Amino acid sequence: MSLYAIGDLHLHFQSVLKAPGQLRDPAWRNHEERFRKNCAALVRPDDTLVLVGDHSWGRNLAECEKDLEYITALPGRKVLLRGNHDMFWEAKKTVALSRHFEGKLCFLQNNYFSYGGDYALVGTKGYTFEGPFYLDRHGRIKGWDKEAAEHAEKLVEREAERLRASFEAARNDGYRRFMMFLHYPPTSILEKRSVFTDIAEEYGVDKVIYAHCHGRTRFHDSLEGTVRGVEYRLVSGDYLLWKPERIL
Ligand SMILES: [Fe+2]
Ligand SMILES: [Fe+2]
Repeated sequence: MSLYAIGDLHLHFQSVLKAPGQLRDPAWRNHEERFRKNCAALVRPDDTLVLVGDHSWGRNLAECEKDLEYITALPGRKVLLRGNHDMFWEAKKTVALSRHFEGKLCFLQNNYFSYGGDYALVGTKGYTFEGPFYLDRHGRIKGWDKEAAEHAEKLVEREAERLRASFEAARNDGYRRFMMFLHYPPTSILEKRSVFTDIAEEYGVDKVIYAHCHGRTRFHDSLEGTVRGVEYRLVSGDYLLWKPERIL
């Protein structure tokens, strides 16, 4: 039994691709087929595959139907996290979505999933401030949009609450070992720590798995390797070249 993770499939079997760069970048060429083959070779029926958000470009559930069918057909138990582009998944409708896909897909939000008896898989979308930044003539950050930063703070607070709810649900059921998943990176490019890394340290998680960072210039935006006793790993699909990462 193994635990795998990957993020940012950005499927668009039925919807309009909103990132035309995806078509030009060789990393994305035929990525649905490459990912399907890699899963078939690696993931066994009793494995768990956590998909760390940004599943589809669809604007609603109807436009995501084929994308979610594709995910359902992958091997193993599929646990989905919300990404910033997952318009089909309103935060308040997680329970309804779970019912709709019962026995096919698991949705991680304000809840947790057990893994291997003693681990709880916990997580939330997360959030990080991504600008606008103002740069000097050397390309160094000299300031940022204060209003956007204030708005980001509110979103970070709300996501931190959802993350705590996920941890507490697991802890109340007796779990003491945690794997934490975020769609957004745990820190913004200005930070070395954040409320998300503080929570990870507080609950003593083994690993924090995140995605959202696409393209070579973004792969190293946040924490990597072991920091203050917690291991951080980026699993966005184009970074892994569509081979799910074995976490446990
Ligand atoms: Fe993405
Ligand atoms: Fe994203």
